[in-house]
Amino acid sequence: MENALTVAYLISAVLFIMSLSGLASQETAGRGNLYGMLGMGIALVATMILVMTGDGSPMLIVPAVVVGGAIGAAAAARVSMTSMPELVAMLHCFVGLAAVLVGISTHLAPGGHEMSIAAQLIHNVEIFADVAIGAITFTGSIIAWAKLSGRMGGNPMLLPGRHLLNAVAVLTILALCVPFSMDTAPGALTWLLVMTGVACLLGMHLVLAIGGADMPVVVSLLNSYSGWTAAAAGFMLENDLLIVTGALVGSSGAILSYIMCKAMNRSIWNVVFGGFGTDAKAAPSAPAGDTPQGEVDAIEVDELAELLAEARDVIVIPGYGMAVAQAQHTVHEFAQTLKGRGCRVRFAIHPVAGRLPGHMNVLLAEAGVPYDTVLEMEEINEDFPKCDVVMVIGANDIVNPGALDDASSPIYGMPVLECWDAKVCVVLKRSMRVGYAGVQNPLFFHDRTRMFFGDAKDNMDKLVVSLKTALAA
Ligand code: TAP
Repeated sequence: MENALTVAYLISAVLFIMSLSGLASQETAGRGNLYGMLGMGIALVATMILVMTGDGSPMLIVPAVVVGGAIGAAAAARVSMTSMPELVAMLHCFVGLAAVLVGISTHLAPGGHEMSIAAQLIHNVEIFADVAIGAITFTGSIIAWAKLSGRMGGNPMLLPGRHLLNAVAVLTILALCVPFSMDTAPGALTWLLVMTGVACLLGMHLVLAIGGADMPVVVSLLNSYSGWTAAAAGFMLENDLLIVTGALVGSSGAILSYIMCKAMNRSIWNVVFGGFGTDAKAAPSAPAGDTPQGEVDAIEVDELAELLAEARDVIVIPGYGMAVAQAQHTVHEFAQTLKGRGCRVRFAIHPVAGRLPGHMNVLLAEAGVPYDTVLEMEEINEDFPKCDVVMVIGANDIVNPGALDDASSPIYGMPVLECWDAKVCVVLKRSMRVGYAGVQNPLFFHDRTRMFFGDAKDNMDKLVVSLKTALAA
């Protein structure tokens, strides 16, 4: 039985690694997902058999898995792509809570086998680490969920002496580990519970201090924390698969956080320690940046169709608004129409376009846009000066020139798609409202920028009709 379990866990671990490697590119992402589901299926079945052939009760485990699975499936099926970060934050919150509960119950019901003093000490440290990281992940994820879902304002809460408070909390947690690890008597529970309270407060404080614009990185960081919690739980429960899976989630979440920080020009320490070096005027919705900066030049659909009918090289920049309007299929049809008469059409993807990593890639793949026409920011940024028309569809912050030249902007330093260098830049959005970071965009007032006002889906539908007419003429 033991051997069969080890083999099942090994197969799951290999499938998880293959899944991660598959998810690294659009062509193989579907396969990567399948490997992940298969690995998780094998791990679940093997663990359930193990528990039920031991002293676990099927009457508790089977209903828990069925009810939990049904709630998870219903929530995932109903969630829109734009609300995915909230769902992910909520799932991390469950991982953290599970780690806290499993850690405390492992301490209360230690499993009965005799341990040497050294082994007991190590086991206690494992419990302590599991509960500490779990508690930080739990409350941090609740705050991230509340901020992402708009239940809480996006502005950072910057308490005076916040770094000192964080340092005191971390030192208190470390100090409490000493009496807990040494003490095997029932009184040790008190140390564990006190530490859980401090870690919960630390998790809340860390995420409260982070502004809305950094929230995607926070979700990715919490993903990483949830992985390390699972790895600590794996040591505590002597479960090898949990250690491997936790380490995979922990390290991939950390790498993703680093990549996102680079894309948004945020230091990872700035995010980890919550608003380190952030001043109040850099808050994401600073009203000063919200004011219009001159006249804009609007364009009507027929004039735009004429312009595009003459274009030889077009670059499309999709953003959050394309996702909201679900305009990706029409955008694909638009690209096909232009390509049909020999125009080169490419898509430029900013690493934090939309509301979650790879958001635009997923939508374009869903619409059937060929992968070789979808380029990353650094692959295409130099091509804008040669391009005839740029179509910015529902994007704002990711094409804001202020990120490069306005030191007072909250997104200053974030690399952006430099589309204003094109011969004509057309921006499709409904109004002059600001984007996620809450700042006005000087691009809209540029000489070569034309504003195409309206809903992305409606306007693209009209544009495709008008373009076909213009091309047929
Ligand atoms: P945003 O800066 O949020 O701009 C989106 C624009 O789309 C808005 O200005 C809005 O203008 C327009 N819009 C909304 N609905 C529309 C519709 N139905 N039709 C047409 N336009 C519509 O988006 P972005 O340029 O993609 O930048 C992403 C931002 O989100 C960055 O600041 C990034 O840091 C942040 N963020 C990213 C992530 C990840 S990981 N991708 C996660 C969370 C946050 P109107 O209201 O005038 O239409």
